[in-house]
Amino acid sequence: MTLQRITVLGSGTMGAGIAQTAIQSGFDTVLFDITDAITATSAAGIKGRMARLVEKGKLDATAMEAALARLSVSSDLEAAVRNADYIIEAIPEKLALKQETFERCEAAAPAHCVFGTNTSTIMISSIAEALKDRGRLIGIHFFNPVPVMRLIEVVMGPESSEVAHSATLEVARRMGKETVRVKESPGFTTSRINALIGNEAFRMLEEGVASASDIDKALKLGLNHPMGPFEMVDLVGLDARLNNVRSLFEALKLESYRPPQLLERLVAEGRLGRKSGRGVYRYDPKGTLIPGSDEV
Ligand SMILES: NC(=O)c1ccc[n+]([C@@H]2O[C@H](COP(=O)([O-])OP(=O)(O)OC[C@H]3O[C@@H](n4cnc5c(N)ncnc54)[C@H](O)[C@@H]3O)[C@@H](O)[C@H]2O)c1
Repeated sequence: MTLQRITVLGSGTMGAGIAQTAIQSGFDTVLFDITDAITATSAAGIKGRMARLVEKGKLDATAMEAALARLSVSSDLEAAVRNADYIIEAIPEKLALKQETFERCEAAAPAHCVFGTNTSTIMISSIAEALKDRGRLIGIHFFNPVPVMRLIEVVMGPESSEVAHSATLEVARRMGKETVRVKESPGFTTSRINALIGNEAFRMLEEGVASASDIDKALKLGLNHPMGPFEMVDLVGLDARLNNVRSLFEALKLESYRPPQLLERLVAEGRLGRKSGRGVYRYDPKGTLIPGSDEV
């Protein structure tokens, strides 16, 4: 099977990062979103980020031009997937929306095209219910920021085919990513462990075991984590984490996943993390963490 044309659905945080990675890896890439204004903003963002890489000497200007020439945008779903060898869906985390989108893809995309979903929490088998050929759907779970993060979790639904699996490994290999194969399950591998560490960190803070900055310092220097759990939750967004632990708690029914009260309170107060200027820590207007600002 030729694997040269990728269509990315959704041009938000993840879709834009995936499209950038795809064009830098030599794939002809169509980036789809619901309006031309959204795709234009997203494409400008990709261009801007690549230009900064060139300024910093991390990317060759000729390579940037060649990569950008491989990018096209579309707000017409059927046209966007018509010639795709592989579709990577990164639209909002809503089951009905993903099902409806893949149903339309199945009617419009070539028969050999593999369907990858970047869902973080939804079961592959649930999305696949909308398809006639369920084997072609697989999870291709990227991490933010996509051009930088090295892992892809390849998530197998009960009916995901080996053809879809090997195509996904091929996409990952050409993007320079490492993969792990995961059976569909709540939180896959990374989110399930990360939520647990985050919950425990919030509980320790509630109990007054140590300050947030000391818990972060302990995990970084004592356990070699690249980021502390509070720096991490501020980066991903406290609201996003709360949604995540709520759905994990519901699915796994384990007390350790119950959303911590402190996390609920901070979200209710609008302290959503770096994006809102304040989460566990405070951030200056450039988004830099203000040391010593971890009062909760
Ligand atoms: N943000 C993360 O760190 C992260 C990490 C891994 C996986 N994910 C998953 O990736 C997916 C996208 O997340 P995101 O953070 O990029 O969201 P986002 O809100 O930044 O982007 C979603 C994009 O989808 C577009 N969209 C809305 N409806 C659409 C439709 N019907 N068809 C096509 N596009 C549509 C929106 O206009 C927006 O540009 C979600 O499933 C999320 O769970 C997110």
